Amino acid sequence: MNLGCGNAEFSEDMYDDGYKNIVNIDIASNVIEQMKGRNKSRKNMVFEVMDVRDMQYDDNIFDLIIDKSTIDALLCGENSYINVAKMLKETQRVLKDEGYYMIISYGKPENRVNHLERAHLDFEVSIYTIKKDFEEEKDLNKVHYVYLCKKRKGANDKSEKYFDEVIQQLVDQEKMENSLDNDDVNYDDQENDYDEINNYEIPFDEEDLEIENYEYYDKYLNMENKIQDQDLNSKFDENKLSKTITSDKDYNDIKEKLKSKSKNDTLPIINSKIKK
Ligand SMILES: C[S@@+](CC[C@H](N)C(=O)[O-])C[C@H]1O[C@@H](n2cnc3c(N)ncnc32)[C@H](O)[C@@H]1O
Repeated sequence: MNLGCGNAEFSEDMYDDGYKNIVNIDIASNVIEQMKGRNKSRKNMVFEVMDVRDMQYDDNIFDLIIDKSTIDALLCGENSYINVAKMLKETQRVLKDEGYYMIISYGKPENRVNHLERAHLDFEVSIYTIKKDFEEEKDLNKVHYVYLCKKRKGANDKSEKYFDEVIQQLVDQEKMENSLDNDDVNYDDQENDYDEINNYEIPFDEEDLEIENYEYYDKYLNMENKIQDQDLNSKFDENKLSKTITSDKDYNDIKEKLKSKSKNDTLPIINSKIKK
């Protein structure tokens, strides 16, 4: 199967090389019509309008599924992680046990492997590179990547078990990220602001920040006044907000302090370490 075939010549070249039994799917009906017209003479080549996130095929029927940049396209859109998780679930489902899903992508392993290793998937992943035919002068990425994913036996059961959980996690994550993105904040400015405050100790570990800082962060965003003058140093000390948090009690103390601050107070927040 060619997943998200577009109007590339990939499938017809394969057909002409002897691979006669190819199913092509794409969500764009105009593309599928164009491809049907172009390939009338290639019997047995199937073109269907279909969403890769919801395939109308039985389980375990394809030997090989090729994805040339379809995962890249989904990763560029809205709700990208969720869409990719759904696409990969479906791809795994319709693939035979020990069949191969081959992704040809411009995405580096650090931006792709995480998607292939989610809890609802069970692929054995090998990574290859193909040197690009031509390179733009500024193009630092001199290769295409091939992710060859072999479906392990029992993968569909794993998917049934963990898929809802994975989706829920991704929904929560996207919500969180959207709420941060919607706020009109210049992170660089904040970082500079922070640095100007005499390099006070940042009060959390990085791991703490991931979960706990959102509350602080929201508070910061709600404040109209920015950290701005030398006065701040004294306020900063005064409120002991630079204290390193070592226990739940410390954490709660600081939380209480923050709650009690008025809107006009400046808040030496820990924004420079906030992870987006
Ligand atoms: C970057 S293009 C790659 C096309 C082709 N594979 C190629 O190599 O040129 C991505 C393709 O994925 C298709 N696509 C995007 N979202 C899709 C979805 N949810 N279901 C099916 N196809 C989708 C697009 O219509 C487009 O043809």
